[in-house]
Amino acid sequence: MKRILIFSLLVTILISSCHNQNQKKEKTQKKEYTPVAIHPDKVTNIVLDDSIRNMLLERGRELAGITQLKLKQELRKAIKQGGILNAISFCNKRAMEITDSISLAEKVYIKRLAKKYRNPVNDMSEDESKIYKAYIINHLSKKWSPAMITWNKKGQPVYYNPIVVDALCLKCHGAPGTDIKPEVAEKIAELYPDDKATNFRAGDLRGMWSITFPEYMVTDAK
Ligand code: HEC
Repeated sequence: MKRILIFSLLVTILISSCHNQNQKKEKTQKKEYTPVAIHPDKVTNIVLDDSIRNMLLERGRELAGITQLKLKQELRKAIKQGGILNAISFCNKRAMEITDSISLAEKVYIKRLAKKYRNPVNDMSEDESKIYKAYIINHLSKKWSPAMITWNKKGQPVYYNPIVVDALCLKCHGAPGTDIKPEVAEKIAELYPDDKATNFRAGDLRGMWSITFPEYMVTDAK
């Protein structure tokens, strides 16, 4: 708990201290995407104390786990069926659909956010960038980066947890020319002219999960 408190403090300091580093860059790629809309049956007011925080952390962990598992299973299947090139088309067409279908079924908003994004839809807001920056600082100083719960401007609680790169990811997010084959790089450039999601190494942070719970409204935090 102490480590989480120190980490939350770091995030708060970052949120209030850096203003002009996250200006939105012009986006070159326009991909049609309509975000899902979740309508909870009712909204419950909550005070974010340790027990509610732990409940939401647990639920966030579970949902991120389910989504990651599903994405990885389908990714492996697509690679088996038609190699990496085929898997790129799979990610392009199905990654958001899979994430959104779990969001709809669970009545939450599940996102995989990235500062160095491939699909601009997954870019981070200013506040999210500050939270991510705290994760990056922790990561660079080889500190443990815990999942956390904060709340958004609407008062809805949000779960965040870093996404780490492993060997499988490098075929599409590693170094072009060595990890990423030329034909794969070509396909990525064709689908994502504004791609920033390359040159990662195993163990790097790739982005973070953001899971919003619209059925709750944070009225106070302890
Ligand atoms: C076969 C190629 C391929 C592999 C392998 C792959 N990705 Fe991706 N990844 C993509 C594509 C394409 C997108 C964009 C999907 C879209 O348009 O919704 C993407 C998007 C993402 C995103 C969403 C943020 C963004 O940049 O748009 C994250 C996070 C991500 N990948 C992480 C991973 C991780 C972690 C691994 C390894 C476990 C991995 N990827 C493996 C191709 C791949």
